[in-house]
Amino acid sequence: MDFNNKRIWITGASSGIGEALCYELSAFGAFLIISSRRENELERVRKNCQNPEKVKIVPLDLENYRSIADIAKPVLEEVKNIDILINNGGASQRALVVDEDLTVVEKMININFMGAVALTKAVLPGMIAQKSGHIVCMSSLAGKFGIPLRSGYAAAKHALHGFFETLRAENYDNGIRVMMVCPGYINTNVAINALDANANKRNQNDEGQEKGLDPKVLAKKIIKGIEKEKLEITAGGGETNGIWVSRFFPGLFAKIIRKKK
Ligand SMILES: NC(=O)c1ccc[n+]([C@@H]2O[C@H](COP(=O)([O-])OP(=O)(O)OC[C@H]3O[C@@H](n4cnc5c(N)ncnc54)[C@H](OP(=O)(O)O)[C@@H]3O)[C@@H](O)[C@H]2O)c1
Repeated sequence: MDFNNKRIWITGASSGIGEALCYELSAFGAFLIISSRRENELERVRKNCQNPEKVKIVPLDLENYRSIADIAKPVLEEVKNIDILINNGGASQRALVVDEDLTVVEKMININFMGAVALTKAVLPGMIAQKSGHIVCMSSLAGKFGIPLRSGYAAAKHALHGFFETLRAENYDNGIRVMMVCPGYINTNVAINALDANANKRNQNDEGQEKGLDPKVLAKKIIKGIEKEKLEITAGGGETNGIWVSRFFPGLFAKIIRKKK
């Protein structure tokens, strides 16, 4: 696929995987719309892109998902249609079910699921009208199986599969392709930014993320996946074996995963 001048909307663009995607796609000459809450960080990313004049900053809060349609409307009027939407923005948690305030679960669902749904619903009619479009959805290994300390996060990531796999089936004949991304440990700030049981930022990294894959490697893999119209990709280390172990040896997997507290 020639990404030059493709209109690509990336959420979670101020950090980690989204930031890495911005640099890779800008180097291909894509026109980027980059979103997250922190406008100053988006401005930093824009300046570091190879073609900063082809980057438009659109701040938004995925948690406040009902505001997203109104934010997207003028953007879509200006750029006409979106060729690729990358629903990457998200937040994690580190709290046991027994301890977590309900707010944590609500936030996980709203940020990781409802935010992606709202932006996709804003962009989808234009994609259908132009009879083409690609939607990338950032799930996780936690979208494939439950992992201790991540109940609301895993619920939200599982929900993404149900919603976006349905959207994929409904819109194949409209020329729309959907790719789910299920990474293991990627070396970003996701664990530091994760919420604790009281929905406060945890401010502590995990060994998994510290030793995780460079987000640049994942960004390149995502771009290859779009080109090859992959349905789903994964990336990371040995932890990604959990996908097939959980599927084919569920009893063994249950014994392994319960030790991950
Ligand atoms: N790193 C991993 O090991 C890993 C593994 C599997 C899946 N993932 C997924 O990968 C995606 C990107 O995360 P990352 O690893 O790059 O972590 P990160 O460095 O913490 O980046 C998260 C991004 O999401 C944005 N974001 C968070 N809350 C938001 C909100 N309420 N509204 C709008 N934007 C919001 C952040 O920007 P602002 O703070 O500026 O809003 C930031 O740009 C997430 O969906 C995450 O679940 C990560």
